[in-house]
Amino acid sequence: MSGTERLATERLGKDGPVVGVQGLGCMGMSEFYGATDEAAAREALETALELGVTLFDTADIYGSGANEEFLAPFLKVHRDKVVLATKYGIVRKPEDPHYRGVSNDPAYIRSAVDASLKRLGTDVIDLYYMHRRDPSVPLAESVGAMAELVTAGKVRHLGLSEVTGGELREAYAVHPVAAVQSEWSLFSRDVEVSLVRAAAELGVAVVPYSPLGRGFLTGAFRDAAADLSADDFRRFQPRFSGDNARRNAALLEPVRQAAAAHGATLGQIALAWVHQRADVHGLPVVPIPGTRRPERVRENTAAALVRLSDVELARLEPIAARVAGDRYPDMSSTSLARE
Ligand SMILES: NC(=O)c1ccc[n+]([C@@H]2O[C@H](COP(=O)([O-])OP(=O)(O)OC[C@H]3O[C@@H](n4cnc5c(N)ncnc54)[C@H](OP(=O)(O)O)[C@@H]3O)[C@@H](O)[C@H]2O)c1
Repeated sequence: MSGTERLATERLGKDGPVVGVQGLGCMGMSEFYGATDEAAAREALETALELGVTLFDTADIYGSGANEEFLAPFLKVHRDKVVLATKYGIVRKPEDPHYRGVSNDPAYIRSAVDASLKRLGTDVIDLYYMHRRDPSVPLAESVGAMAELVTAGKVRHLGLSEVTGGELREAYAVHPVAAVQSEWSLFSRDVEVSLVRAAAELGVAVVPYSPLGRGFLTGAFRDAAADLSADDFRRFQPRFSGDNARRNAALLEPVRQAAAAHGATLGQIALAWVHQRADVHGLPVVPIPGTRRPERVRENTAAALVRLSDVELARLEPIAARVAGDRYPDMSSTSLARE
């Protein structure tokens, strides 16, 4: 796999944009995963576009707006080739870096979109996601406010993140949804409880986030507490440190075997597994692995060409159920908490 082939394409939802079948997660370029080499990150963006990646994923909370601002110069040059996705709904407080609130209030949505457009330096967002569900606001009210943004020309398509299948159906009854974004990987299969079936029935695409298990599935780190910087978010995720990390590292053996058989990396096998969910569940699947390094963009996009056999898929099947530790230190705002 040379990593130079252009990606195949896929449509998001029934009337959504056509995108490269793998997107690029930009979050780590501004926050959460340690220091960033800005020049390399900018090269990663350019490399991705050259290889056929068109879906670029950000959110207003990444770096408290810094990630959207970071993308602005790239968008200025390439706006017509990029399918730009951003999100609202998680609220932070400047004085407390660990605070996370949620708001789906229509007035909040209207101010959030204007702030995102300004930071991104564009007049329209291609795919606007509700990042987290706020149960204190009726879903129809929030999706109604999002639909008004489409009418106003500020947003082209709607998405939801970390919702249940029931919530997707409820939202879809108000306005078509192009994509749902949730964590989906060899380590995290909560979406299969209800969301994937609802998405397949409605013709909504799934955009798996953290498809590399935040890097753990690549073998790039073995224990967050020992291997990663003090401010790295993964140190606060229960599954990546101590006994849990030791147990979880042992689960990678079948991934290693498949990698050896394909002359691939562990990360490529993890991504190939996610891509093949499209066939298993009968719906469009466009993972958005995050990387700040051009050489890893090449490696990750080449994974879209790896095809795992039924025997390999069967060996990988039991992994998720054996993972020790939750996805987040606080799971209360995830879809699993509302299933
Ligand atoms: N909707 C949500 O709630 C939500 C939550 C989390 C993330 N997201 C989105 O999903 C995107 C992807 O998720 P993620 O970044 O959390 O996790 P991920 O894609 O599973 O993993 C990213 C980590 O893996 C490393 N990595 C990437 N490619 C690699 C390779 N080939 N070999 C070794 N290491 C590799 C990256 O480091 P380097 O950067 O140093 O390469 C980074 O530390 C984010 O950027 C964000 O846009 C959404």
